[in-house]
Amino acid sequence: MSRIRIPQPRPSEITPEDVWLSRRRWLGQAAAMGMLAGAGPAALAARGPDDSLPDLKGRPSPSYSLMEKPSAWDDITGYNNFYEFGTDKEDPRRHAGRMVTEPWTVEVGGEVLKPRTFDIDELRRLAPMEERVYRLRCVEAWSMVIPWVGYPLAELLRQVQPTGNARFITFETALQPEVMPGVKRGILDWPYVEALRMDEAMHPLTLLVFGVYGKVLPNQNGAPLRLAVPWKYGFKSAKSIVRIRCVEEQPYSSWMIAAPSEYGFYANVNPDVRHPRWSQATERRIGDSLFAPRVKTRMFNGYGELVAPLYAGMDLARNF
Ligand code: MTE
Repeated sequence: MSRIRIPQPRPSEITPEDVWLSRRRWLGQAAAMGMLAGAGPAALAARGPDDSLPDLKGRPSPSYSLMEKPSAWDDITGYNNFYEFGTDKEDPRRHAGRMVTEPWTVEVGGEVLKPRTFDIDELRRLAPMEERVYRLRCVEAWSMVIPWVGYPLAELLRQVQPTGNARFITFETALQPEVMPGVKRGILDWPYVEALRMDEAMHPLTLLVFGVYGKVLPNQNGAPLRLAVPWKYGFKSAKSIVRIRCVEEQPYSSWMIAAPSEYGFYANVNPDVRHPRWSQATERRIGDSLFAPRVKTRMFNGYGELVAPLYAGMDLARNF
């Protein structure tokens, strides 16, 4: 498989490590002193991550992190999309606790030389964990800033060695109907399936995520492992993955099957291409006050310098 050349991010997009560390220290101290407390969800930021979850630390990755304050723990873990558990934003936190995440295996196969089933503990040890602050831009025109912990998906793919026929990759997610009230409703063709082109999957920004805010992922965020593909709308970032397949033909994702005129294969964040039912030009930052101005959405969610070359010459309005 050919290696892709990645242009360096603009200096303004990079957090120098000393700034990063001092900001982290400041946030930690501010939280401890209650300085972040205020009105609304910000008050809950001071409460910090859930102590009952095991720690999962990652080495800060300044070159792939935003210099923005992460959203509050309570927003990241309380305002979710995980339709298997229902369509209200509070449903995943309310119901996902019953999902069984131990034992957990991930089958990796298809067009690979070394198909293999990995145990979750094996996957956690496969590569060094990094902490990366990414923007998550949901297709519903809201966003958050999330400090994920994980490592590039490319590390896992190297283990199984995709063949020359592997042009796309699919991610199938957990289906546990007895504990997933949303599955009984025919919103999507379950299990939830997402897919990427192989070069997108191998891109260093594409993160296999095991934790958030220094803790293992809470179930509502896609425990025990999920994707984060920050230049695409959030629905591409499949949660609670159980099967990965490298394939030759472009696959159909669950959302493409459900509403082909609304959700395309690429789903790159693009302020110039409307969703048929609403504009994508601006977004609401979850946690901001109701009076805060909406944020302008940026092409590729602000990651253009890193990912635009993947789409050189493509019509992104047609390939939405
Ligand atoms: N993965 C599964 N299995 N089921 C889902 O409903 N929702 C997607 C994505 N992954 C979804 C999923 C959508 S629409 C978004 S915006 C993100 O997860 C939300 O991730 P978060 O709740 O951790 O912010």
